Amino acid sequence: MKNLFIVSVLAACAWTAAVCSDEWKENEDESKVVSYPLPDPLLCQDGTPVTTPELWTEKRRGEILEMFRMQMYGMMPDYDKSKFRWETLRVNPVALNGKAVFKEIRIWFDAPNARPKVDILVCIPRSAAGPVPAFLGFNFYGNHAVSDDRWISLADCPDGTRVQGKDLETQRGRSKTRWPIETIIDRGYALVTAYYEEIVPDCNNERSLGVYPLFASFEENLPEPSRAGAITAWAWGLSRILDCLENIPEIDAKRVAVMGHSRLGKTALWAGANDPRFALVISNDSGCGGAALSRRNFGETPEFMDQVIPYWFCQYYSRYAKDPTQIPFDQHELITLIAPRPVYVASADEDLWADPKGEFLSAWNADPVYRLLGTAGIGGIADVPPETNVPVGEVIRYHRRSGKHDVTDFDWNEYLNFADKYMK
Ligand code: GCU
Repeated sequence: MKNLFIVSVLAACAWTAAVCSDEWKENEDESKVVSYPLPDPLLCQDGTPVTTPELWTEKRRGEILEMFRMQMYGMMPDYDKSKFRWETLRVNPVALNGKAVFKEIRIWFDAPNARPKVDILVCIPRSAAGPVPAFLGFNFYGNHAVSDDRWISLADCPDGTRVQGKDLETQRGRSKTRWPIETIIDRGYALVTAYYEEIVPDCNNERSLGVYPLFASFEENLPEPSRAGAITAWAWGLSRILDCLENIPEIDAKRVAVMGHSRLGKTALWAGANDPRFALVISNDSGCGGAALSRRNFGETPEFMDQVIPYWFCQYYSRYAKDPTQIPFDQHELITLIAPRPVYVASADEDLWADPKGEFLSAWNADPVYRLLGTAGIGGIADVPPETNVPVGEVIRYHRRSGKHDVTDFDWNEYLNFADKYMK
């Protein structure tokens, strides 16, 4: 598997070179954004206007979901729960100085010639009287990277993953500022996290790796261009973790918020769109291919993604790389798939690559569906992005905090307030 390692290193270098070169300088000048009419989520493919919640639920929602599945992220594979095993590996009953219980749980899958697994870290407040609501999100570098706590096991390094070949002990806690575990626990929530590349590595769509072998029989009769890309595989993984949480008595699986940053924010949105069990969805700086509108030529574009990270999507999506105005849907419609459940879209003002304004407009343009379904949607605000650090909206909520592409205490504080309103 040395070759695979080399391939992923080369891909990472090509990516850095591409982002740094002028060839890929994307537009970051608002005056150069060309106008782009958006597809109407409330108009069926046969031209019927959607005027009732029933028509949305029974017809239009399915049309939109099908387009995203067939043409952008790839089909979400079925799952046979009988192939699923999980076991609690270790428990620390007095984590965080006695405030929390930490569990390490392993989920196993049986696939032809493979037995992929994912290790999840579950942090539960100890003082809770009954099952607690939870935040679930993948991490980028392994569970050991979310905290300095030496009790947490070092991640395994499956072939092709970004942690392969690293001295993991030196990486302990490297992402801890993105995971304020103690604050989350103090506010009465559990935190559940896992290393995303255990589902499938973030290097290509090599079908022998991660959980891909499990998809083979489902994908046999699918057109190849619509087979799952990596974002679909990761989103599928989030649903499997939710399956597991349904068996953990300390957690209320009906109150699980799925959250993610950047590519994992794209993944959280797609997981929320596919799996109605997620009670709330949070997209942190998810950008192009996530919350940001694809038609706005600002920051990252579908063309860039097609050159550098095509495997995040299904092959079909490449057809639109040169001209995103041809895509028969846009990312505001991804958010409509989450309706009427609460959704939080967050941006950062220095994160122009992710197009904060495009993320806001996407949230704003999902509002008609939220209102049709009887919620307050984005709360009647105008289609103008709010001031920095001023959250807006109701069931669709949005903020653009100061600073760079990251997850900060400001973001978490707002997510916790939002969850208090809708999950407590
Ligand atoms: C790159 C990529 C983005 C992605 C980000 C990340 O910047 O172009 O689309 O969101 O990586 O996931 O870190």
